[in-house]
Amino acid sequence: MSTKFGLLLQVLTASLALLGVAVAVPAPASKRATSVASAAGAAVSVTLDNLTYVNKGAVGFGLIPSDFKESTGDTIGGIGSAIAIKPGTWKQNTNGTYSGTLVVHPDRGYNVEEPIDYQSRRHEIAFTLAPYTGTTKLTFAAAQQTLQLAYLNTVLEFERNGTKTSGLDPNAIRPAQSGFPSVASADPQLPIASTSEPHLTLDVEGLVLNADGSYWISDEYGPYIYRYSSAGQLLQTIQPPNAVLPRVSGNLDFTSLDDPDTGRAGNHGFESLTIDPTTNTLYAMLQSATIQDGGDDKGTSRYTRLFAWNVANPTTSVPLIGEWVVPLPLSDKGNTEECNEIKFLGAGVFLALSRDGDGRGGDDNNSKYKQVDLFSIAKATNIKGTKFDDPANPVSPKGKLDKSVTAATYVSFVNFVDSTQLGRFGLHNDDPDDVTLIDAKWESLALAPVGDAAYPNDYFLFLAADNDFISTHGVSLGVPFNAGSDVDNQFLVYRVTLPSVVKGTF
Ligand SMILES: *[C@@H]1O[C@H](CO)[C@@H](O)[C@H](O)[C@H]1NC(C)=O
Ligand SMILES: *[C@@H]1O[C@H](CO)[C@@H](O)[C@H](O)[C@H]1NC(C)=O
Ligand SMILES: *[C@@H]1O[C@H](CO)[C@@H](O)[C@H](O)[C@H]1NC(C)=O
Ligand SMILES: *[C@@H]1O[C@H](CO)[C@@H](O)[C@H](O)[C@H]1NC(C)=O
Repeated sequence: MSTKFGLLLQVLTASLALLGVAVAVPAPASKRATSVASAAGAAVSVTLDNLTYVNKGAVGFGLIPSDFKESTGDTIGGIGSAIAIKPGTWKQNTNGTYSGTLVVHPDRGYNVEEPIDYQSRRHEIAFTLAPYTGTTKLTFAAAQQTLQLAYLNTVLEFERNGTKTSGLDPNAIRPAQSGFPSVASADPQLPIASTSEPHLTLDVEGLVLNADGSYWISDEYGPYIYRYSSAGQLLQTIQPPNAVLPRVSGNLDFTSLDDPDTGRAGNHGFESLTIDPTTNTLYAMLQSATIQDGGDDKGTSRYTRLFAWNVANPTTSVPLIGEWVVPLPLSDKGNTEECNEIKFLGAGVFLALSRDGDGRGGDDNNSKYKQVDLFSIAKATNIKGTKFDDPANPVSPKGKLDKSVTAATYVSFVNFVDSTQLGRFGLHNDDPDDVTLIDAKWESLALAPVGDAAYPNDYFLFLAADNDFISTHGVSLGVPFNAGSDVDNQFLVYRVTLPSVVKGTF
């Protein structure tokens, strides 16, 4: 596979170069970083914008069982859709462990058959990390001692006036309302349950916690960004630019069941949300290209868009301040490895969690691409406010980038389906399909400083998987269900060197 892939990449790179197109193609599998635990030997490094980033291997693994019930009585699930470390909780203990609280945000509830009337919610989970750097293979049970997770509480989310949010497929539109200038949000058709109130419907995939307790979430349906109070009340809504809004025959249409004519593809909204706290810049990125940019086919959907808003004065105005094209990695068949989370580091550099859909709960047992990569927008063209905001002017028609635009530089970094690393924690890739198979749908990232004076740029990189609420004995909206399999909510922790991070940001 690697030789053929390498050749294909060379041909592709050469032909694009001839066309004068700037390309940043991730290394083929054979040249990709093979991660080795720092204790086990050489760490793996990559260079981007003259800085060296190091993958020191996996140091923790933990899970919340697929049938664990939260305080409402529902099975906890989907929690790896978005995670963040609660400000002020990260602590280095004297015995070499670390502890803190993770805030996790599920997407839209158990929806194997169809989207349901799931009220959006976030949970808090206490954790203790006891980093493991040995080479001896831990058993699956022993590995779970390296990252112990304990459920704490759940906060349900409401829109204005105490109305519950929903997870139903959006099949209606609410016009803009006073105090919510950018609102043209999606509502499920009435009536729902026993109320005649329209319900804002959310499929949440991104989470940013603010120091004042309020928080931002990003969603796939709109795709919109919402700010919530710590009590779970909607404060404000950010509507994305025109190029992203889903339209059918020119009209807004938020359904996730079919692709629109232009704008974000169905179920390919704002998977990624992150903040630069030093400049109060909030970034969101689409999972893959808009429809007009080639997003209706995995063979042409690699050129996704990243957006930036200034949120310094969130209650006054939230101006869009930047928009860039990010080239996602390709599989050996030339299909886009979609991006499920980004994390701002500093100096225009971000982490990007891009992957296939294979693994526990996925399409196949054998996962070929699950990575936390790096990209830089330092040299990329800012296309904000250009003709590309008009859906009639694609930035990458049929997946070919417009010559006037330089995309971000994207490089391969942490491969977390590396068998050596998985094996150290009792996990595996490929057959058999059992609880020790790595989950399919990893969708979130969080960072915390190691606090090692010898390595001041070292961070723990937390990753979590969305298990789609798959349990053989689950409960959804109070009703028992059997999804035919048990997919635990898996978490992994890596140790990495990230020289571009502004000290004190995490
Ligand atoms: C990297 O270093 C070279 C040589 O010092 C310099 O010309 C270039 O601007 C640097 N690039 C970045 C992105 O800092
Ligand atoms: C280490 O200290 C923390 C915090 O006091 C505690 O929760 C944890 O159980 C301790 N772990 C071990 C292995 O002693
Ligand atoms: C919320 O309540 C206020 C005041 O009671 C009312 O003016 C407004 O229309 C309500 N909003 C919604 C979305 O129902
Ligand atoms: C996954 O592994 C199981 C054995 O545990 C096997 O029965 C199944 O066919 C495999 N799935 C695929 C898609 O190959």
